[in-house]
Amino acid sequence: MSIASKPAGVEFRNVSRLYGNTAAVNDVSFTIEAGTLVTLLGPSGCGKTTTLRMIAGLEMASSGTILIGGKDVTRLPATDRNVTMVFQSYALFPHMTVADNVAYGLVVSGVRKRDAAAKAAEGLELVGLGGYGQRLPSELSGGQQQRVAVARALVLEPEVLLFDEPLSNLDAKLRRKMRDDIRELQQKLGLTSVYVTHDQEEALAVSDRIIVMNKSVIAQSGTPDELYRRPKNRFVADFIGGANLIDGELVGRGGGTATVALGRLTLSVPDPGLPAGEVLLAIRPNAIRLRTGETGGDGIPVTVRKATYLGSHMEYGLTSEFGDLFVVDPNVASPVPAGASALATFTGDGIAAVAR
Ligand SMILES: Nc1ncnc2c1ncn2[C@@H]1O[C@H](COP(=O)(O)OP(=O)(O)O)[C@@H](O)[C@H]1O
Ligand SMILES: [Mg+2]
Repeated sequence: MSIASKPAGVEFRNVSRLYGNTAAVNDVSFTIEAGTLVTLLGPSGCGKTTTLRMIAGLEMASSGTILIGGKDVTRLPATDRNVTMVFQSYALFPHMTVADNVAYGLVVSGVRKRDAAAKAAEGLELVGLGGYGQRLPSELSGGQQQRVAVARALVLEPEVLLFDEPLSNLDAKLRRKMRDDIRELQQKLGLTSVYVTHDQEEALAVSDRIIVMNKSVIAQSGTPDELYRRPKNRFVADFIGGANLIDGELVGRGGGTATVALGRLTLSVPDPGLPAGEVLLAIRPNAIRLRTGETGGDGIPVTVRKATYLGSHMEYGLTSEFGDLFVVDPNVASPVPAGASALATFTGDGIAAVAR
């Protein structure tokens, strides 16, 4: 008896899911490589859960094709797909021991009791709950219950493991620990995992790739780094990393970079593949630095509207002729006070141009 992972890839080809006349998921296509963790990220109501449930077969596609491990499963019900979901609410049986909870799915699918118990013990070991089998769920903390839910899914040796906002019932510190645990386990076992969250930081932390959804369609997909550094549109720039969005003008392109003008200032950004003319500049809060007491230099004049000390960094609210700017600055030793005039300069990294 041992828990083996049999990861399979997942592919959506032009998949839609309609409720009445409204599309919860609208013509979505993507590929998830076997053995990777891919996150569906987006605001509430954008279609993440519906997408996940269509992978599981708990929801049927209205049109399009779904493949798991290269096999067309579009019309297969959940019971005929080797996919398991870890729910937000854990859904543990309160009257059963932890071990019986983990073994339950195996017993139901006809595995002999002794084998199921051995596998459950192994599953609990994997999630770090080796000695907890005889307890009741109510005798465990929230984080431990979450791990039981993961163990229960793992013992079924799914081809694809699905997580729907698995950490939203946990407090901030535990969330960080659990997300690291899930990522570690996923990598150790080489599981194909699809992870739903509305939390951009969580997505950046755990994912091989992120599929950003907005209003039932994919806004952009890519690695965490690609999405953060090269957002393709206003929505992604804003949703991931909360960029400042101000108007600029693209004046030239070449060699993989583009030159954009912000007033009299010119900045270099990754080539967005847009024609010359009006663009939106997405400037990360940590790509802006404040200078005081100097005249001239490459920057824009600003007034500090608000200065907040947060221990590890300062947050500034700035007013400029281009609009308000939000800044995160690690320099806490010599903060710029509210009311001061300053020059805002821009670091080379952390600025992207997107369509206006
Ligand atoms: N069973 C349903 N009947 C009607 N509308 C639904 C149903 N399930 C989801 N929707 C709608 O589909 C959209 C996407 O929902 P969902 O996939 O749950 O979003 P998310 O998980 O991103 O918050 C929402 O507008 C939601 O109201
Ligand atoms: Mg949801």
